[in-house]
Amino acid sequence: MKKVTAFAPATVANVSCGFDILGFAVDGLGDKVSVSLNDSNEVKVTLIEGDHGKLPYAVDKNTCGVAVQAMLHALQYKGGVDIELYKGLPLGSGMGSSAASAVAALVATNRLLGNPFEKAALLPFAIESERVACGAGHADNVSPALLGGFVLIREYHPLDVIPLNVPRGLYCTLVHPHLVLNTADSRSVLKQHVSLKDATTQSGNIAGLVAGLYQENMSLISRSLNDVIAEPSRSILIPGYDEVKEAIKMAGALGCGISGSGPTIFILSPSEEIAWEVSRISQAVFEKIGLDIDLYVSAITTRGAYVVEEKK
Ligand code: HSE
Repeated sequence: MKKVTAFAPATVANVSCGFDILGFAVDGLGDKVSVSLNDSNEVKVTLIEGDHGKLPYAVDKNTCGVAVQAMLHALQYKGGVDIELYKGLPLGSGMGSSAASAVAALVATNRLLGNPFEKAALLPFAIESERVACGAGHADNVSPALLGGFVLIREYHPLDVIPLNVPRGLYCTLVHPHLVLNTADSRSVLKQHVSLKDATTQSGNIAGLVAGLYQENMSLISRSLNDVIAEPSRSILIPGYDEVKEAIKMAGALGCGISGSGPTIFILSPSEEIAWEVSRISQAVFEKIGLDIDLYVSAITTRGAYVVEEKK
């Protein structure tokens, strides 16, 4: 029986100032999904590993199931697909866990069916799965998980997704405190209205960040990593956030922010050496407050989701 396995990377959504419109893909970390055709006309999640029993098998509640069903519906495909999910990413961490599962499932299924879709055309199905997972069809995790690199969602209706430049030497440190924050909850703490002053500040920073990525101008990237919309409401949910932000300043990091809806903190650095140094600094901060963390240091990968194995 033909079986295709795909990998999709972890992602950092928002990137401080780009709430719901910016994200990047992280090298090395991610989820794998294997798919094969079954004899029924149903999509079935047949195996989930690495989730500590937390994820649903019900196909309309599992992000892989929702995404694959949406894809098969668009194709008017009548057969069924079995899905096996191998979680590499922690749930509710802000590292794009639900997005990586959905995107890996879509890339694997697309190959299984002979690539009926261009890669980017899989995005609407992945967005549908995010809508089910957290009540909002945001694309800032699924787009970089699928396409790799930095991605801007310029517009949602109609969807207009713009891959951006990834500066050489840019490294990311991820600090994952052992807390679970689900996206729906951390969206519910956000203010629904933004003042004209904050909208102006945020727009300036988004534009500055995009310009900085293209100019490979680390100082401009650093000045632009500033979020006046989501961070003030969300950072209070993350113990140690303000302390890490303060402590990394002297080490030469470009800045930090909340990865997606948290609790993971991302820190951008202009070299791998500094990225390791800020991981040590963050470790010390969390030791002081007595909270366990996982640390990852990674380049920004320009490679999005890909097929890792195909068994005939
Ligand atoms: N942009 C989304 C949010 C990302 O901040 O809620 C969720 O990972």
